[in-house]
Amino acid sequence: MPEMMGVVENGILTIDSLSKSFGKLQALSRVSFVVRQGSITSVIGPNGAGKTTLFNVVTGHLRADKGDVFFQGNRITNLPPYRVNRRGLSRSFQIVNIFPRFTVFENVHASVISKMRKSSSVVASLQKVGIEETEQILQTVGLSEHARTTAGTLSYGDQRILEIAIALGSRPELLLLDEPTAGMAPEETHSTVELIRRLVAELGLTVLIVEHDMDVVFSISEMIVVLHQGMVLAHGKPEEVRRDEMVQNVYLGEELDPSRKAVP
Ligand SMILES: Nc1ncnc2c1ncn2[C@@H]1O[C@H](COP(=O)(O)OP(=O)(O)OP(=O)(O)O)[C@@H](O)[C@H]1O
Ligand SMILES: [Mg+2]
Repeated sequence: MPEMMGVVENGILTIDSLSKSFGKLQALSRVSFVVRQGSITSVIGPNGAGKTTLFNVVTGHLRADKGDVFFQGNRITNLPPYRVNRRGLSRSFQIVNIFPRFTVFENVHASVISKMRKSSSVVASLQKVGIEETEQILQTVGLSEHARTTAGTLSYGDQRILEIAIALGSRPELLLLDEPTAGMAPEETHSTVELIRRLVAELGLTVLIVEHDMDVVFSISEMIVVLHQGMVLAHGKPEEVRRDEMVQNVYLGEELDPSRKAVP
């Protein structure tokens, strides 16, 4: 497999025949697809399909058994998470992952600063820049008024937004979001979807998202990857995936009905 694969198709992320098992359980089985730069790509599939495992292998939180991950044309397979992050790939987790005793500002500032320390030694002056950047991120995600709030006291929905803000702190080019709207009220879901759209349109980010809410998936995605029992069942534009017979069989027509809300 050539080092620079993925560049050809304007792909920012290329997943090439990735496999991962837990004992006898084959959680990922030769998963391959390319994420186009500047797109929103959704990964869907029933519970246990391997979606979170896929994210964990891509970000280095789990080791791949076989296969490769290329980011911007470079092989990042099995690099440790902090090195994957430094390359420009950042993620949020399925379960809220913040420092609950620190303020909203401190949570994001810590992320901004940790990126800066590595890129320059002029820490004192950069710390000030870090403050501006942190304020900017909080404004982007709509958490400015909560800057001094202790993170653990935020509403659940705002904690999930804070997680996205922390992920933005490392100035990623690719953002992986694992069920960002899970457990949110409809209004929060709507504003989160709008936020994700803005991140792509205004900041030029690429987003790979795991999402159960089919309303969200079909309205937001340029491409959809359907995982089932660790395998790619379908990969295409929303209308192609919606029509796919195998996909309909797996979901029994249920989850593709936009009126159905998935249980997080
Ligand atoms: N660390 C682990 N050790 C053992 N088995 C695991 C581990 N992580 C995941 N699994 C198993 O691998 C399979 C895929 O899990 P994964 O969490 O990737 O699914 P998912 O598609 O994210 O599901 P959900 O929609 O419920 O979040 C499941 O059968 C799960 O039980
Ligand atoms: Mg999951």
